[in-house]
Amino acid sequence: MNANNKGVHEVWASRWTFILAATGSAVGLGNIWKFPYITGENGGGAFVLVYLACILLIGIPVMISEVVMGKWGRSSPVHTMHKLVDEVGAPKFWHGIGWLGVIAGVIILSYYSVIAGWALHYFGQAISGNLQGIDGAGANLLFENLLAKPGMLVFYHSLFMLMTMAVVIAGVTRGLGRAVSVLMPVLLVLLVVLLIFSIRLGDFPAAFAYMFAFDFSALTGESILVAMGHAFFTLSIGMGAIMVYGAYMPEHAPIGKTVLTVAAMDTGVALLAGLAIFPLVFASADIEPATGPGLLFVSLPIAFGNIPAGLLFGMLFFLLVTLAAWSSSISLIEPAISWLVETGKGTRLQGGLVFGLLTWLLGLGTVFSFNLFSGPVIGNFNFFELADFLTSSVMLPLGGLLMALFVGWLMNKTILRSELDMDRDRVFYLWYNCLRWVSPLLVLWVFLEGLADILGIRWLSLIELLT
Ligand code: TRP
Repeated sequence: MNANNKGVHEVWASRWTFILAATGSAVGLGNIWKFPYITGENGGGAFVLVYLACILLIGIPVMISEVVMGKWGRSSPVHTMHKLVDEVGAPKFWHGIGWLGVIAGVIILSYYSVIAGWALHYFGQAISGNLQGIDGAGANLLFENLLAKPGMLVFYHSLFMLMTMAVVIAGVTRGLGRAVSVLMPVLLVLLVVLLIFSIRLGDFPAAFAYMFAFDFSALTGESILVAMGHAFFTLSIGMGAIMVYGAYMPEHAPIGKTVLTVAAMDTGVALLAGLAIFPLVFASADIEPATGPGLLFVSLPIAFGNIPAGLLFGMLFFLLVTLAAWSSSISLIEPAISWLVETGKGTRLQGGLVFGLLTWLLGLGTVFSFNLFSGPVIGNFNFFELADFLTSSVMLPLGGLLMALFVGWLMNKTILRSELDMDRDRVFYLWYNCLRWVSPLLVLWVFLEGLADILGIRWLSLIELLT
């Protein structure tokens, strides 16, 4: 299989390269920036529990199916879906999974790049010594100053987009795996170091209680929708990114174990980031858990400003966050580029230029939603919030739901078994039944709860029974 698929795409050197690349895609701003701030916005503990449950019951089963689809199709998500639909004789409607992914990827990258730009800026701030001795009030001011300058935000957004497109144009399988294999361990060590300082400087017991005391009264339909959406976002699933990486997977590889490894590392990094950030938040009178998208950027500088060698740690940390975001952003645009290359309509260079420019332009909407046009665009969502909600809470779960239904109900069971390389029956059926029943029903239920809550419709909600 590998040999005759060399035409358009390469194959990873080994299963480990896939693990590294998939982890590189999964671990990013979602873990370090987004998870802590949405946890803070949604009241802590119960939200974390719902997120963990979604990873287990929806995320992992769907991620396995996404890899299987990709490995089977060995092409871009759009073409893989075409091949699969022909193979099982399903209606053309299912092609939508591929297209939905291309669009979602571009929208996500548009704001992802702006936030990664913030990390780049803070890298510079750490070097210049501006974080020295900073307190909560000072950190707030520094962040507000950044948001108030659209020109500066555009500059960093552009810089990050250029970095991303450079790698994408060069082709992803080369170098990425090696880069990630250095990056991830260092990031992990750094987070642990930060956690230790944060325990000493901040209020760790309060932070721990906040994250793990399950207060169900804080849950709403919208917050469980956000938690589920984040499970998709953080694992990079529901839009074809993992399908593309699966397409480069060697023929014989235990997909189940591989996916579990990636999901465990991803979840670990998110929990670590939360545990490092919240002690500082609870120890500072100037910072609230519900600060919003700035949470990471107003809390961690306090640690960097007040610990020995803080300047060095701060620099290293924001550099690593930028690099982690970099290895994620590549997978956001890869479905679009690989599709274009396969159709023969363009080269990687042309695809990179077209999709890069489009994404960059869209990103301006996010830049301005923090200053010039911070008002609502639809409902009470500003541009950034709308882009985030539409992708994380609607498109990714919808894509994932369709994947679960397609693999669970339309694909041939015997083929699945052989593609999966699962040696034990019990494990296979556990996955299979979860994918057919539990995951789709849960996604549908969470959609209903979320929609009802957002539109203010009253119905007999299960959440109300819980709380
Ligand atoms: N998972 C990445 C993060 O947590 C973001 C990301 C990369 C992503 N590729 C994706 C999200 C594909 C959804 C779909 O930062």
